[in-house]
Amino acid sequence: MKILAIETSCDETAAAVVEDGTKLISSSLASSRKLHEKTGGVVPEVAARKQVESIVSVVEDTLKGANMSLEEIDKLAVTVGPGLIGSLIVGVAAAKSLALVANKPLIPVNHLVGHIYANWVDVPELPKFSALVLIVSGGHTDLVLMRGHGDFEYLGGTLDDAAGEAFDKIARLLGISKYLGGSELSKVSASCEVNSMQGRLPRPKIKDEDFDFSFSGLKTAVKRVVDKGDYELSSLANEFETAVVDVLMAKTIRAARKYKVKSILLGGGVAANTQLRERLRRETEGLKVKVHIPKVELCMDNAIYIASAAYFNSTTNPLDEIFSDPSLGIMDSQFLASMI
Ligand code: KG4
Ligand code: ZN
Repeated sequence: MKILAIETSCDETAAAVVEDGTKLISSSLASSRKLHEKTGGVVPEVAARKQVESIVSVVEDTLKGANMSLEEIDKLAVTVGPGLIGSLIVGVAAAKSLALVANKPLIPVNHLVGHIYANWVDVPELPKFSALVLIVSGGHTDLVLMRGHGDFEYLGGTLDDAAGEAFDKIARLLGISKYLGGSELSKVSASCEVNSMQGRLPRPKIKDEDFDFSFSGLKTAVKRVVDKGDYELSSLANEFETAVVDVLMAKTIRAARKYKVKSILLGGGVAANTQLRERLRRETEGLKVKVHIPKVELCMDNAIYIASAAYFNSTTNPLDEIFSDPSLGIMDSQFLASMI
C-alpha cells in the first residue's frame, strides 16, 4: 500500500510516499528555517505563509520523484498536531483537497507518533514489542511504553522545558546560535577535549523514581555560570549536554528495566545528538534489549515517518492523549482531525 503523507506542523513543508509503512519511495521538503534565523525564533505567521507558498510544489515534486500520479496513491495522511495552527491548517487543507479530488481515504496523524515511526522506514530489522520510546524534540520529552501499533502508555515527560528547547535556549545564551541551536551546541561540546566543568551543573530529577523530566533548573544553573563570566565555552557546552544526556539515559534505562522491554526506540530532533546516540547504544549493552535509532535525516521533521505512522495506525486511534503536551497541541489535533 502506497501512502502519500503531508507534514506542515512548523517551519518545514514536507511530503513523502512510503510503501507498506517501511519503504521510502520519494520525499520532498522545503524549509523556512533561514527566515526564522533572522528573527531568532519562529514567527508563526511567517511560517504559515511559507507553507502556503511551498505546499503545491513540494507535493508535486514528491509525486514526480515517485513517478506516480495521485490516482496511483492508495491513501493520504496528514499531521494534525501538535504544531503551529496556521502551518498545520495548510497541510490539512491540501491533504483534504487531494483526498476529495482523488476520492482516497485520509488518515490524521499525531506528529509525535510520527517521530516514533522513523524507526520503521528503510531499516534492516523492525522493532519488536514491547518497546520503550524516548521522544526528544523541540517541544517534547516523553517516555512512552509501546505494546503494539496504536497501543501506547505514557510513562512520563517534561514538567517544564523540553530537551530540545533547553538545547536551543542554552545555544542562544552562549551566543552559539539564535535559532534551533541544538546541533551547533553539540558541535561546540564535541570540540571540548577536557571538560573543566565536570559535575558543576545539576542533573535534575535523575534520582527520582518517576519518569518525568525537568530542564528549567539546569538552564538557570547555566545562566548563573554565564552571569559570573568564569567559564570556558566548550567545557560549559559539554557539561550542559552531558547533564541532559545523563538524565535521559538514567530514566530510559530505569524504565527499560522496569517494563522488561524488548526494544528501545529513539525519536525526535534531539535523537540526532551524537552523545545521546552513542551512549544509548553503549550503556544498554548489558541489557537484553535491541536499540533502534533513526538515521539523522529521519530524526528531523519530515513526512516520511508520517506516512509510516499512518500505515500502522489507520485502524487505531493515533490521537490519544498520550503525550505530555497539556492542551493546545491536542486540541488542535482533535479539531483538525474532525475536519477530515
Ligand atoms: O523534532 P524536531 O524537529 O521538532 C519538534 O518536533 O519539536 O526537533 C527539533 C529540536 C530542536 O530543539 C533542535 O535544536 C534539536 O531538535 N536538535 C538537536 C540536535 N539536532 C537537532 N539537539 C541536540 N543535538 C543535536 N544534534
Ligand atoms: Zn518534530
